[in-house]
Amino acid sequence: MKNIKLNNGIEIPQLGLGVFQTPKGEDTVNAVKWALEAGYRHIDTAKVYGNEADVGQAILESKVPREEIFLTTKLWNDDIRAERTKEAFEESLKALKTDYVDLYLIHWPVDKFEKAWLVMEELYQEGKIKAIGLSNFHKGHLQKIHEIAHVKPVVDQIESHPYMNNQELIDLNKSMGVEVEVWSPLGGTGGNVLQDETLNKLAGKYKKSPAQIVLRWDIQRGVIVIPKSTHKDRIVSNLDVFDFELADGDMAAINQLNKNLRVGADPDNFDF
Ligand code: A2P
Repeated sequence: MKNIKLNNGIEIPQLGLGVFQTPKGEDTVNAVKWALEAGYRHIDTAKVYGNEADVGQAILESKVPREEIFLTTKLWNDDIRAERTKEAFEESLKALKTDYVDLYLIHWPVDKFEKAWLVMEELYQEGKIKAIGLSNFHKGHLQKIHEIAHVKPVVDQIESHPYMNNQELIDLNKSMGVEVEVWSPLGGTGGNVLQDETLNKLAGKYKKSPAQIVLRWDIQRGVIVIPKSTHKDRIVSNLDVFDFELADGDMAAINQLNKNLRVGADPDNFDF
């Protein structure tokens, strides 16, 4: 496992388990426990996923010390609009059964996100959050945050996979010292990225699965990646991407699969 150092000095494991669309209850508890057993030390959830309580329960039951786990959650849009950042954060802590989170993100750049950011800065200064960042922020939103921020965001979490690699936004963030986390790295639940012919050929060449090829591509292009699965075998194999290396030509072949095809909402045009 590799760590990436964020701009405030703290380290994040480059690969974590995402639990977007992992049903609450037993599915989430099992997924998180299997992941921790397999060696994952980074879990990414959000208030709106409805499974923070299960993530917290799984962490406790796993017996892995809390401080060994990098835990992310996100501030939901309604809470930003209602200016209840502090309350929402406390609710998340309670659900997660912990007294701090490693990373707290603004989930979407909805109206009043600047106000929320300033409150998150306070929580960060109080030590209740180890790092603060953004999610689904595009160029214009990033400029607004950079104008008002006293604390630089450590990450921007955005959609990125071989059919929508979002490389320009990744490069923009990196040029500002902001690391990028990628969501729906395997093309999400409805996508067909993993059926791609090039990825399947590369899977044959490296004797890995198409998912492992994609995740390795992410590791080598220097982004933080949070694949989701509810299946134990997939959770285990998705972490097994640190024992091989894609050749430059194969990295380029995956880069060329881009067709700007989103599987999720567009940060410039969404209504939730
Ligand atoms: P499942 O949870 O049934 O395993 P993303 O991380 O891009 O959101 O993609 C997750 C989707 O890819 C889910 O539908 C998940 O389904 C599936 N998935 C996760 N890991 C693998 C894998 N190793 N092989 C095939 N499909 C996978």
